[in-house]
Amino acid sequence: MYPSLEGKTVVITGAGTGLGKAMALRFGAEKANVVINYFKEEENPEETVEKIESSGARAIAVQGDVSKEDDVKALIRQAVDSFGSVDVMVNNAGVENEVPSEDLALEDWNRVISTNLTGMFLGCREAIGYMLDHNIKGSVINMSSVHQQIPWPHFVHYAASKGGAKLLTETLALEYAPKGIRVNAIGPGAIDTPINAEKFADPELKKGVIELIPIGYIGKPEEVAACAAWLASEEASYVTGLTLYVDGGMTKYPGFQAGKG
Ligand code: NAI
Repeated sequence: MYPSLEGKTVVITGAGTGLGKAMALRFGAEKANVVINYFKEEENPEETVEKIESSGARAIAVQGDVSKEDDVKALIRQAVDSFGSVDVMVNNAGVENEVPSEDLALEDWNRVISTNLTGMFLGCREAIGYMLDHNIKGSVINMSSVHQQIPWPHFVHYAASKGGAKLLTETLALEYAPKGIRVNAIGPGAIDTPINAEKFADPELKKGVIELIPIGYIGKPEEVAACAAWLASEEASYVTGLTLYVDGGMTKYPGFQAGKG
């Protein structure tokens, strides 16, 4: 646990499901005030709010589309209205779909880029702007992917968005380090969340993914949330511009394991 997170206000986008939800619960367990941005009503964010409140922390749920400037502004405003600050911003919302690149519709390209990259930019801009105005030495965490590094055929829009997330993170880290604002990314490998539900429901596809993971299993959302808590905490006070891969070694050339190289 990280005592420096107690009473801090943490805003998490796309927190109705998956990694965002796991991070909301983890920051709640750290006794932070948690602002859960969710996209669709059926995600039932109130259940997460109740769980956090029952553990003695505070939380609110705010609907919004991260690709819409007004929604992101409203999200930050609601965090401040409810808890008086924004200390940690987690830009987590993301989407993907599998299409051979020659068939990729402009609509799909725009949807993925505007959610994953433009949404991340808006979240960074609004949160950092608030931190600067209020002299807060805050922390921003961008949810990237191993695909900021590993090319991914049939997911060119997704890979491009995460490649963009890498340099967005590193550029903002450099720009705001003098103000004491840290900007880092997390690069998950294959984690068991709704984004992968269809793939992991097929035993053959799941086996194929596990073969790419040196540590030998699909990651759990809580394992990503633990890293987010550390990165946001004072324990990581000298860390900025990092992408922390939480990938069981996936980015370390698994094809070379056991003398295969
Ligand atoms: P998920 O599908 O459960 O979560 C994505 C969330 O983003 C959903 O709650 C969805 O409603 C929300 N969202 C989608 N469009 C939105 C919009 N326009 N505005 C606000 N929210 C929106 O999947 P998961 O795995 O939790 O994904 C979270 C992040 O982690 C994504 O950025 C994804 O690219 C990244 N990631 C996930 C990996 C995995 O293996 N699960 C691996 C690498 C990266």
